[in-house]
Amino acid sequence: MARVALVTGGTRGIGRAVCIALRDAGYTVAANYHGNDEEAENFKEKTGIDIFKFDVSDFAACEKGVKEIEGAIGPIDVLVNNAGITRDTMFHRMDAESWNAVINTNLNSVFNVSNQVFPGMRERGFGRIISISSVNGQKGQMGQTNYSTAKAGMIGFTKALAQEGAFKNVTVNAIAPGYIGTEMVQAVPEKVLNEKILPFIPVGRLGEPEEVARCVVFLAADDAGFITGSTLSANGGQYMA
Ligand code: CAA
Repeated sequence: MARVALVTGGTRGIGRAVCIALRDAGYTVAANYHGNDEEAENFKEKTGIDIFKFDVSDFAACEKGVKEIEGAIGPIDVLVNNAGITRDTMFHRMDAESWNAVINTNLNSVFNVSNQVFPGMRERGFGRIISISSVNGQKGQMGQTNYSTAKAGMIGFTKALAQEGAFKNVTVNAIAPGYIGTEMVQAVPEKVLNEKILPFIPVGRLGEPEEVARCVVFLAADDAGFITGSTLSANGGQYMA
């Protein structure tokens, strides 16, 4: 039987590439999304991957959403915590709404969804939890105190839960992508991107979502059981943690 994977924020950007790569590697994939119905329907039509709408920043919604997925396609073997947003602004201008939105969607979501699937993974003696962190969680980024905090938190979560899962064959890892050519990075002011970011990426370009997806497929594999608590960087050499 094919293993079942859930990818949060799975219908756009990096999540979309992750869903497709896992499907192509033989997984039965569920793509979670929250906001954009039209994009999600397009994604479903093009990829044949089932979509499940719920808000990952809401614990009760995750409880209900994961139950629905498990009822439809079976227990989740691989969870990819990918859903994320930015609300970039300098800290002296940041309001509580921008702070809380990013912490709730990017970090509290990791608790909300992982908490639904981890007990079952332990019981079945197999699981993979992979969280998409960021180079900016490793090095910090001006204009992103909220985002850098959330992404750094994911790495701490990964290291702690890895220790709890290890003896049950549940691995917990993070991936720290650099600047990838998605809508999120396109929102960075062009001048800043060209003058302050691209020159500091040694490979000289943005990454592709597929280059992150292949990291997920690698860590999700049955034979990746000795890799746990790690953070895999895919950032074109921008930062070597
Ligand atoms: N590195 C160095 N300097 C930077 C910078 C950066 N990343 N971003 C901005 N600056 C500089 C600007 O060039 C400017 O300096 P000058 O006046 O000398 O030109 C100064 O800081 C102030 O910048 P702005 O004029 O743009 O001020 P602002 O208040 O309008 O905006 C900002 C500030 C919100 C930080 C905005 O510049 C911005 O959005 N920067 C990009 C932040 C960023 O990198 N976000 C990542 C998004 S992608 C993502 O998050 C995915 C991932 O995981 C990597």
